Amino acid sequence: MPTLATTVDGLKLPNPFLIASGPPGTNFNVISRAFREGWGGVVAKTVSLDASKVINVSPRYGKLHAADGREVVGWENIELISDRPLEIWLEEFKKCKDAFPDRILIASIMEEYRRDAWVEIIERCEAAGVDGFELNFSCPHGLPERKMGSAMGENPDILSEVCSWVMAAAKKPVWAKMTPNVTHIESPARASLASGCHGISAINTIRSVIAVNLDTLRPEPTVEGYTTPGGYSSKAIRPIALRMCMEIATMIRNEFPGRTLSGIGGIESGHDAAQFILLGSDTVQVCTGVLKHGYELIHSMKEELLAFMEKHGFETLEDFKGKSLQYFTTHAELVRLQREAKKKAETDGDWKSETFVAQSHALSR
Ligand SMILES: Cc1cc2nc3c(=O)[nH]c(=O)nc-3n(C[C@H](O)[C@H](O)[C@H](O)COP(=O)(O)O)c2cc1C
Repeated sequence: MPTLATTVDGLKLPNPFLIASGPPGTNFNVISRAFREGWGGVVAKTVSLDASKVINVSPRYGKLHAADGREVVGWENIELISDRPLEIWLEEFKKCKDAFPDRILIASIMEEYRRDAWVEIIERCEAAGVDGFELNFSCPHGLPERKMGSAMGENPDILSEVCSWVMAAAKKPVWAKMTPNVTHIESPARASLASGCHGISAINTIRSVIAVNLDTLRPEPTVEGYTTPGGYSSKAIRPIALRMCMEIATMIRNEFPGRTLSGIGGIESGHDAAQFILLGSDTVQVCTGVLKHGYELIHSMKEELLAFMEKHGFETLEDFKGKSLQYFTTHAELVRLQREAKKKAETDGDWKSETFVAQSHALSR
């Protein structure tokens, strides 16, 4: 019988499924629900030292539906990080760890470009008992106006500096969460790992404009007649997330063996999760999938991943982590391989009267 249990950066998880930072991990109440339902871990909604600076608007979500008009395939949000005071969050982190001591609780943190701010938030969250950190360098809207979030994540030099501050202060494992809104995601990931981060989480949302309303001519989600570009998530981003995870995992293998990757982006089933693990992820995270289907989603995800493992005879996640990375190569190499395969097929083909002589010559080469 295969097992989903895994240990990542010293964190013991009953399964590799974590709630990704966002509404499904936004207070003690919902985090407890996630743990009761069986999620291996929760990355809480991103917190900062001064929540009074975080002001959300409404509506802040926009959806893209499939042709049937029902299924949601793409989801845009212009939601900020948590607007709840840090003092309340610290009490809730402590309550969570008291109630679920064997589950993994990761604090997602974001701060301004000041060493003392990052050190303070790390020390206060550690004192509240969290098991690890995810550094949110990736929110594409709102916070970049304060030089936070993806404004930092797009700049490997700033990332190096901030990650060094964090690593000097943190006693718990640290994952740096990447923005996909860059040309080469390996660059910021490499900067974070070179500064000592234990792992990378990828991806956050993709900067987007979900739609323009053809009656009002206003782009959505419309707030008092206006909007601002937001972050795109859900199924539609999965192929981009898979590509970026493949690139990061390849870089980790070559340059930072032993460091870890938490795959995120459009994951809604055990089969989606299996693909991220095959491309080198140690864990996977789900946000919009839970917004769409509820916390119970964990049951089918676990069953599907176990069924996949049974089918292939894999006993542990380690047995197939990164197994599909070897099948990526350059386009020029694909052309060469195909040319060779065709030549071989011609040579080894059945004897035909029209090509009999050519076939007999080919066999003697
Ligand atoms: C409504 C909403 C709010 C989010 N808030 C945060 C956040 O506070 N911090 C963060 O790191 N990521 C946040 N995210 C990004 C998710 O954690 C995740 O990286 C992204 O949505 C892609 O995964 P998914 O397709 O499973 O949603 C948010 C996503 C959504 C949809």
